[in-house]
Amino acid sequence: MASYTWIRTLGLLLMVSATMGAAPKKPVDVPFGRNYVPTWAFDHIKYFNGGSEIQLHLDKYTGTGFQSKGSYLFGHFSMQIKMVPGDSAGTVTAFYLSSQNSEHDEIDFEFLGNRTGQPYILQTNVFTGGKGDREQRIYLWFDPTKDYHSYSVLWNLYQIVFFVDDIPIRVFKNSKDLGVKFPFDQPMKIYSSLWNADDWATRGGLEKTDWSKAPFVAAYKSFHIDGCEASVEAKFCATQGKRWWDQNDYRDLDAFQYRRLRWVRSKYTIYNYCTDRTRYPTMPPECRRDRDV
Ligand SMILES: *[C@@H]1O[C@H](CO)[C@@H](O)[C@H](O)[C@H]1NC(C)=O
Repeated sequence: MASYTWIRTLGLLLMVSATMGAAPKKPVDVPFGRNYVPTWAFDHIKYFNGGSEIQLHLDKYTGTGFQSKGSYLFGHFSMQIKMVPGDSAGTVTAFYLSSQNSEHDEIDFEFLGNRTGQPYILQTNVFTGGKGDREQRIYLWFDPTKDYHSYSVLWNLYQIVFFVDDIPIRVFKNSKDLGVKFPFDQPMKIYSSLWNADDWATRGGLEKTDWSKAPFVAAYKSFHIDGCEASVEAKFCATQGKRWWDQNDYRDLDAFQYRRLRWVRSKYTIYNYCTDRTRYPTMPPECRRDRDV
């Protein structure tokens, strides 16, 4: 059967390209309302251009947040954010994926504000089966309050990649073989919020929020979601293995992406739980793969 041979050849070609790696597909600009709804303090979310841009406002009464309508098992999730400008000390802007149960999985971006002219910190974390404590912290190579930048997560059965613009800043590999849980059977929703965390956020809580500067405003656009939508109770994705983010190209970073990740590592890292021997006298098992970066 000629067509069968052809399919087999194609399969071989795909296998040959297994280590190629590729950048995620370009996100599509979609308005807020397509994929998201407000979570709380609805009057603190402002809409512009028919909802293609929004702002979250934080004042001394409340912060606010929003969440995806759907829940997802794997995919590519991104948004463009312009962080709170000026004196943002004490504020935290977060963008994260989380499942809803007690032993929850979570993939976090948290942007810790600072005094005017002082650098933001981007903290990332990964929770699997309710266990987190995997913080990494970096400075950004640009001022995140000046322009929109895209922040995104690629999540499949093989890896979770955090991207800032197109640059991978963190990879969490599936280390099931090392006895580490990996998120694979609990659908997650996407959340974002702006709130006051001046008990810990800036210089460990030393810098307090200056409420005379309120409201603090974070701006958002391009609410791209390309994921396998699943009911909250689902244990697997109906199209598992068939979508672009499942394919060989997305199971590992390519050499170019690793170079960029190493660049972030060497120039911008402030903290990595994997190298914190005070906190972890024995290195957490998944860190073997983090070190190989
Ligand atoms: C805020 O600025 C100080 C001083 O430059 C710096 O030590 C700190 O890491 C910055 N970021 C946060 C979130 O504390």
